[in-house]
Amino acid sequence: MMHLHLQDAAATDALGQRLAAQRPAHAVVHLYGDLGAGKSTLARALLRALGVTGTIRSPTYTLVERYPLADGSEAWHLDLYRIGDPGELDFLGLDEGAASLWLVEWPQRAGAALPPADLRIDLAIDGHGRSAQLSACSQAGKVWLAAI
Ligand SMILES: Nc1ncnc2c1ncn2[C@@H]1O[C@H](COP(=O)(O)OP(=O)(O)OP(=O)(O)O)[C@@H](O)[C@H]1O
Ligand SMILES: [Mg+2]
Repeated sequence: MMHLHLQDAAATDALGQRLAAQRPAHAVVHLYGDLGAGKSTLARALLRALGVTGTIRSPTYTLVERYPLADGSEAWHLDLYRIGDPGELDFLGLDEGAASLWLVEWPQRAGAALPPADLRIDLAIDGHGRSAQLSACSQAGKVWLAAI
């Protein structure tokens, strides 16, 4: 477990860059935190650091946005806040093998329909900044966390 204080949005970006630099070949990240806690900011910084250059939309209504990565795999950014029931995930046709990185906001809305996290990140508003708690949930997650 790692505890960080992110004093401003630039610090959230920097955490995303550190995570991207050390990411394992396949990783599922669950992003917890209230509205405005900084989940999308962190996801966007990770995607940018992985070379995504175009617009990075919040998947608020589409539930998922897919980004091709340089190695031929994809990164998927999900925001499940507005999902009706976990069965809707099936309709997205998400094939876990195609994505090397899952960044999932509001994972608690999907229940067991979602692949389990390697890394769980809990963000919270803390004064003018944010607090971040990073928890490894798998061996790959442990290695990842130790490397950043
Ligand atoms: N460490 C930080 N300190 C201060 N502000 C921050 C920090 N990180 C992100 N922010 C700001 O918080 C605001 C909300 O961030 P963001 O959209 O990422 O939240 P979210 O958790 O994705 O919310 P939602 O659940 O609505 O999708 C943005 O204006 C962003 O710049
Ligand atoms: Mg968001």
